Amino acid sequence: MSRRILLILTMAGIVSCGSKDEYDPAHDYFSFANTGQFITRHIALDLEVDFRAEKLRGNVVLHMKMLDESAGEIILDTRDLTVERIIFIAPGGSPEPATFEIGEVDSIKGAPLVIALPASVDTQAEVVVRIDYETSPGSTALQWLPPELTAGGKHPMMFSQSQAIHARSWIPLQDTPAVRFTYEATIHTPSELLAVMSANNDPLVPRRGEYHFEMPQPIPSYLVALAVGNLYFAPLGEDTGVYTEPELLDASVYEFANTQDMLDVAVKQFGPYQWGRYDLLVLPPSFPYGGMENPRLSFLTPSLLAGDRSLVSVVAHELAHSWSGNLVTNATWRDSWLNEGMTSYLESRLMEIIYDENRADEERVLGYKELLQNFEYVPVERQGLAPRLESGDPDDVQGTIHYHKGQLFLQYLENGFGRERFDRFLLRYFEDFAFQTITTEVFLDYLDANLLRSDPGIITREQTEAWMYQPGLPDDAPIPSSTTLDRAAELAVAWAIGEVTLDDIPFAAWSPQATIHFINNLPDDLDDKQLESLDKYLGLSDTRNAEIGRTWFIQVATRRYEPAYAKLEEHLNRYGRTRLVAVVYGSLATNGQDLALAKSMFAKARSAYHPLTVSSIEGVFRRAEAEPGE
Ligand code: BES
Ligand code: ZN
Repeated sequence: MSRRILLILTMAGIVSCGSKDEYDPAHDYFSFANTGQFITRHIALDLEVDFRAEKLRGNVVLHMKMLDESAGEIILDTRDLTVERIIFIAPGGSPEPATFEIGEVDSIKGAPLVIALPASVDTQAEVVVRIDYETSPGSTALQWLPPELTAGGKHPMMFSQSQAIHARSWIPLQDTPAVRFTYEATIHTPSELLAVMSANNDPLVPRRGEYHFEMPQPIPSYLVALAVGNLYFAPLGEDTGVYTEPELLDASVYEFANTQDMLDVAVKQFGPYQWGRYDLLVLPPSFPYGGMENPRLSFLTPSLLAGDRSLVSVVAHELAHSWSGNLVTNATWRDSWLNEGMTSYLESRLMEIIYDENRADEERVLGYKELLQNFEYVPVERQGLAPRLESGDPDDVQGTIHYHKGQLFLQYLENGFGRERFDRFLLRYFEDFAFQTITTEVFLDYLDANLLRSDPGIITREQTEAWMYQPGLPDDAPIPSSTTLDRAAELAVAWAIGEVTLDDIPFAAWSPQATIHFINNLPDDLDDKQLESLDKYLGLSDTRNAEIGRTWFIQVATRRYEPAYAKLEEHLNRYGRTRLVAVVYGSLATNGQDLALAKSMFAKARSAYHPLTVSSIEGVFRRAEAEPGE
């Protein structure tokens, strides 16, 4: 690092020089941006989508407000970007070239782009800076899919995934959730393809190879999103619809038919929907997540297309982020539970209304079981809802603890104060903090003032802090339960010991969640004959339900049920969502005998996976090699 940059970074408090105790919970340790001196208010993108070179090329114009008169530089986040030219644009329009430097690369954070502020810039006015740049094919946010990895097989496709800190690998910007800005974009594509963004998509726009977007509501950088492909639209309701390849359009319309209902219910529960339309985008299998809450346009994995609408809790989840996350945003990634835990809670409330309480309880129990598994391997200092977070990868902080423990915390508050009182609190919370970013501590203060102290003697501040800063669960945490799932667990054991036959078990009446719980509760000592009859009876190896497949193939791998290994490999090739495949590789890799087999399956499947999925699976193998047989 040059001395000049080191000096700048030290002054901006970016290079930590003190002891560990100086940890500042409000500071974003994953951004280089000098947000105390400048903040972005608006950005304008003009990008050409070059499928041959696997690059975006063009410029971004950042409209910034200067907060500190003494500031001499603007520091932005970048990763693997080639910056060609930077100019400041004066209010009259005259351009002034700027000098800039890209600092030392950090393997997680990327590199700071330090732009010197020309003396002529009018710091009273808006500071407007234009950066001409291009991305690299290795951009961590972008996946470039050849036609054979799409449903149609004829056209290429590309999509972005900016959360948590990947926006910087396709746009040089202040890549921190603490800053919100509006955006506009012009996207140039091959003329037969359609571009969509987390913005005002027009379902009727003609395909001309040039698309213009506006996002008038201020959003954090991790919600800027783009996808380009052979995409078509079908309406689901008045304000809702779905984009996908034509080959998946009918299945998507069927699967997500209740999206408009969900939106209507959510508005009644959580307050006005502030974003205009709510559309879905169903991507190819390599999309690394179940869903991503890009505003106005949730990105979804096609593995939700089970044919029976049984996996739509993911849509409920992404929709709920329109309030928790997109409207009220975590200040830093250490406050993720404010996004994900709150959203998991809202998701369960939506599922209760759209389906029924039993179904919501089943999902709560499965979440709780996953939480207990997380407590077994996540280090204790990462088990609080708001852990100290200065290093490591913000995409992988604490397993899914922030989801399920966060959900339980809100359930705990609901139980304590009663649903009606707690619902009123939530409604006001979304109103009071709309379009703001907040830390855990701001939330706790607000909770204290508006719920704990207005209704004293129920839950204390200390109790809420234990959830935030202590590992595990407090003794008085609510434990979800479901009679259907309890029964499924009993029947798993009863069948294993020959007390009942498969015909005695009401599988047909069960939700997929109950079947999942049944499979997870089979005793360790089943023999291959039993596994074979179960597989045949339920068609587990050929299931269309990706979550049942995931559950089954974890068992297949853990128990070394080799007759189903060929189907297991098909599962690994059919899906790319990290959640569906990484744990199956992990179960094979740690069963004591199949690490090499797992690696060879991965070597074959790898090129179809998203880079984020690849790195998760590599992490799984690293851990398996460190602790063989675990
Ligand atoms: N925002 C997340 C996805 C995410 C989290 C991307 C962290 C990058 C970093 C999304 O809302 C989510 O939680 N998806 C879940 C859905 C599920 C919990 C219903 C997923 O993909 O599994
Ligand atoms: Zn989420």
